[in-house]
Amino acid sequence: MTARLVTGIGELTTWDAERPVLADAAFVVEDGRVAWVGPASEAPDADDREDVGGAAVTPGFVDSHTHLVFAGDRAAEFEARMAGAPYRAGGIRTTVAATRAASDDELDAGVRRHLAEMHRQGTTTVEIKSGYGLTVHDEARALRIARRHTDETTYLGAHVVPSGTGTAEYVDLVTGPMLDACAPHARWVDVFCEDGAFDADAARAVLRAGIAAGLAPRVHANQLGHGPGVQVACEVGAASADHCTYLTDDDVEALASTGTVAGLLPGVEFSSRHPYPDARRLLDAGVTVALATDCNPGSSYTSSMPFCIALGVRELRLTPREALWSATAGGAASLRRDDVGHLRVGARADYAVLDAPSAVHLAYRPGVPLVRQTVVGGERSSA
Ligand code: NIG
Ligand code: FE
Repeated sequence: MTARLVTGIGELTTWDAERPVLADAAFVVEDGRVAWVGPASEAPDADDREDVGGAAVTPGFVDSHTHLVFAGDRAAEFEARMAGAPYRAGGIRTTVAATRAASDDELDAGVRRHLAEMHRQGTTTVEIKSGYGLTVHDEARALRIARRHTDETTYLGAHVVPSGTGTAEYVDLVTGPMLDACAPHARWVDVFCEDGAFDADAARAVLRAGIAAGLAPRVHANQLGHGPGVQVACEVGAASADHCTYLTDDDVEALASTGTVAGLLPGVEFSSRHPYPDARRLLDAGVTVALATDCNPGSSYTSSMPFCIALGVRELRLTPREALWSATAGGAASLRRDDVGHLRVGARADYAVLDAPSAVHLAYRPGVPLVRQTVVGGERSSA
C-alpha cells in the first residue's frame, strides 16, 4: 500500500494531548490510517505527496445524532413556527405517514442525498436513527436501509406513540416484537423521553429491553422542558443524553458524575425558537459535550456541522476550538469511538481540508462553504 504525505498544512488539528493544534504541519496516510504526524520540516519521505497550499485541516466531523430515513418535508410547520406557533412532538406523525408511504428506493435515495450534503460539508461519520416507521415492518425497514450506509444505527421505535394506539400497548410492541425485528440491524437503542412522547417509566422499560437485546442506550432528553430524561439516561449508563436544552443543577451533576455525554443540537433551537442550551455551564461542570445536527425534517432540517459549530460558538458559549472539539472528538465520545474524531497516529484518515488558514474560520465565516475536500479512510473525493 502506498503512503501519502499531506503537506503545506497551515494549521492541523489533531487533538493530541500535548499539541492539539500544529502550525506548518504534515501527516502521512497509509492503509487508510494516520501513520505519522508532525512539523512539515521533519516529514518522512512518501510515495505520494499532496500539498494543500496553506489550508487548515481538521478531523472529519462526527455527526452523532441524525434521523435521515424519512420522506417528505415540513416546511409549512417551520413557517408557522417562525410566525409564532410552538414546536410539538406530535409533528413527528406527519413524517411517519410520508415515510410509510415511500418505497425502499425512495427512502434510500433520501439517505444518500443527505449523506452527500453532509460529506460536502466535512462530515465523515454519521449516526442514523429509525423512528419514522413505528410499526415492526417500517422500523426494521428503516434500520436495514440505514445500515447500508453506517454501522452507527439506532433503534428509535419509541419516538412517539402512533395514532390509534395506547401507550402501554405500544411500549409492549417496542420492547417485544419490534425490538426482535430491529436489534439485528442496530447498535443503539434510543427513546424520546418528553411530555407528548414517553415518560420516565416507559423510557426505562424501552432502554432496559434494548440493553437486554445487546443494544447500547442513548436518549432524547430535556428538549422541550425540564423532565426526567437526563436522569434516566444517567441511571441506565447511556452513552449520551441528547438535546439537554432545559437542565437543573442535578441534571448537570448527573451528567458529570456518570460520564454520559451531553449531545447539543443547536439546529433544533434555531428552528423552534427555544432558548439554546448552555454548553459553557456543562463544560465548567466537567461534562463532555458533543455537537450534532439532529438532521430531520421536523425540528432541525440542517445537514451542516459547520453551521452547528457556528451556533455553538455564538449561542452556546463555546470557544471556536471547543466547538470544533465537540463536533469531532465529542461526537466520537458520544458514539464511544476512539478511531475517529481526531488525527493522532492510528486514527482513521478522515479529515476536512478547509478553504481557510485556520479552523476558527468555521465560526468566523458562518454560512460560507469552507470545506474544500472531505477525505474518508484516506480516500479523496471532491467535496
Ligand atoms: O430530535 N425530539 C424528537 N425527535 C426529533 C424531532 C423529530 C421531528 O420533529 O420529526 C428531534 O428533535
Ligand atoms: Fe433527534
